[in-house]
Amino acid sequence: MALRQFNVEGVRLVCEDVGAGPPIVLLHGFPLDHTMWNAQIAELQTHFRVIAPDLRGFGASQLSDADAENGVGMERYAADVIALLDWLQVSEPVVLAGLSMGGYVAWQSVLRWPDRIRGLIPCDTRAAADADEPRAARFKMAEAAMQAGNSSPALAMIPKLLGAETREQRPEVEVKLRAMIERQSAEAVAAAQRGMARREDVRGKLDTIAAHSLCIVGVEDVISPPAEMHEIAVLLAKSGDDDVALVEIEHSGHMTTMENPAAVTAAIAAFAKKCYQL
Ligand code: MLT
Repeated sequence: MALRQFNVEGVRLVCEDVGAGPPIVLLHGFPLDHTMWNAQIAELQTHFRVIAPDLRGFGASQLSDADAENGVGMERYAADVIALLDWLQVSEPVVLAGLSMGGYVAWQSVLRWPDRIRGLIPCDTRAAADADEPRAARFKMAEAAMQAGNSSPALAMIPKLLGAETREQRPEVEVKLRAMIERQSAEAVAAAQRGMARREDVRGKLDTIAAHSLCIVGVEDVISPPAEMHEIAVLLAKSGDDDVALVEIEHSGHMTTMENPAAVTAAIAAFAKKCYQL
């Protein structure tokens, strides 16, 4: 697969950019990189141009010194996504999917640059901000990662990221996920946790999103459970003028793209075809 590099204010960012056709942008979750979308990238590129960045700090993308010190807000990651589209000369509105933290970034992208997004796919994500306890846990993990000098404190998330069925019956998914977490840096983990800790509660703004929307959620997701994703779909539908659909993914927890890749790919492809009237 072809990785491309670009610069935002001196920071090197990297993305996958494959296929030809109308663009689909895929934003990864925490503490991961664009390869969590590999199965979707491989299939979707036959009909679409698929653009999948490593958000700053993750995968092969860099962090600035200021990011490492202050954390990276969801607005910063979103500004990078728009800078990426500008650099790739993608001026038409795109279909944008974001899983979990990628979803937090997708909210900021569509709320700040509504004209750049034709279709939105919030995938296993949340619109609410953190309560006090999980927020404090984020700062703790940030400190633990910096002390360890690696991403190992984030490995404790694995039992929550994967559904019980996946863990029992498809251990190779866990092996892949673990390796992906292990190759992220302490700085990326800390910066994203600090950024997520101060992210905005966007629930009150969802009714302003005019893009078509497709919510995707694993039936066993305990981080952004189906009931919470249903509430998001209801809030999105309040904008009134566009379709909102919700697809529940069987045999999957939070990491739907890896746990039931074919079902996620099919849902994204059907939605994108509808958005682009193909
Ligand atoms: C993710 O999958 O991106 C994380 O679970 C997001 C979070 O920690 O809120």
